[in-house]
Amino acid sequence: MNARTNRRILLAARPDGEPTPADFTIDTAEVPEPGEGQVLLEILYLSLDPYMRGRMSAAKSYAAPVEIGAVMEGGTVARVVTSRHPDFAEGDIVLSHSGWQSYALSDGTGLRKLDPAAAPVSTALGVLGMPGFTAYAGLLTIGKPKPGETVVVAAASGAVGSAVGQIAKIKGARAVGIAGGPEKCAFVRDELGFDAVVDHRAPDFAEQLKAACPDGIDVYFENVGGAVWEAVFPLLNPYARVPVCGLIAHYNEKAGSNTGRDRLPGTMRDILTKSLTIRGFIQIEFADQRRDFYREAAQWIAEGRLKYKEDVVEGLENAPNAFIDLLRGRNFGKLVVKVA
Ligand SMILES: NC(=O)c1ccc[n+]([C@@H]2O[C@H](COP(=O)([O-])OP(=O)(O)OC[C@H]3O[C@@H](n4cnc5c(N)ncnc54)[C@H](OP(=O)(O)O)[C@@H]3O)[C@@H](O)[C@H]2O)c1
Repeated sequence: MNARTNRRILLAARPDGEPTPADFTIDTAEVPEPGEGQVLLEILYLSLDPYMRGRMSAAKSYAAPVEIGAVMEGGTVARVVTSRHPDFAEGDIVLSHSGWQSYALSDGTGLRKLDPAAAPVSTALGVLGMPGFTAYAGLLTIGKPKPGETVVVAAASGAVGSAVGQIAKIKGARAVGIAGGPEKCAFVRDELGFDAVVDHRAPDFAEQLKAACPDGIDVYFENVGGAVWEAVFPLLNPYARVPVCGLIAHYNEKAGSNTGRDRLPGTMRDILTKSLTIRGFIQIEFADQRRDFYREAAQWIAEGRLKYKEDVVEGLENAPNAFIDLLRGRNFGKLVVKVA
């Protein structure tokens, strides 16, 4: 019997619209004992990501929903506390997908050992992890930025967007960021080195975006949808490429909500007459590029060309509110929860 307690955050209800704290339950359970071939993991960091809103919903999607009463899903960085697995030793730090809890068992499937000397281990959830890889693969494979072209990305201070703009710069393109509020905008321009930044909350946002893109837009990396997409769409140049990565402005929409007039005919006309390429993707489909990503991203970080910001929330019990705030744009940088 193990004296430690496993704190877990379970999905209590499926939200319709914005999630609330009542959609989550915090409970405690016994820490499980690893069997032969298993390791016991203590979670150090939990990643909070927009896709988790989709897992709370039963609507058909590319991945199965979290069941009611089950532990919320999520990427984690963990320490091996007990090993009965030949490939892992006590004290190893690993990337795992253990969810919103403080301990978990694993049979080793999908675990990746991390080197704490190479980079802060939390970066395996951000700039050197899934979000950084999403930016790299989506931008380079679908966006294909060329030197001198204009690349626009929203949620530009966040985990994915911050890397998109910096990688665009590394490839010789002009990076224009869109972010919410003066503090995030200043960070994107002054710290990350984007060429221009526009605040999507400004009343004249569409005019400001047009002024920031005097040569139009060649690559729009779509992270948000909504009003941002409407301002971007008329500025797309012939042969522009649009990797559709996320639509966070819509994730909390209520079922059956209709956001206004039917824009599809006009959108299709421009896709045709401007020869646009609009392509959705889920990062996992580019998994064969991960090795190149780890190598290149680590080098860019070492050279100071790929910077990152983490927003660290203390304590697993604060994960639900931090997640609710993420969907409201209240995070500033890659959102992670320090669990232990
Ligand atoms: N396709 C894939 O495989 C894949 C993988 C990872 C992530 N994604 C997607 O990539 C996007 C960014 O994810 P992330 O992890 O990097 O999150 P993040 O940017 O770190 O955080 C989310 C940000 O979205 C912005 N936002 C929220 N509501 C908005 C709205 N209504 N209009 C405009 N901006 C809004 C906020 O920034 P501001 O305050 O600056 O507006 C907020 O801080 C998400 O859509 C996510 O679902 C897709």
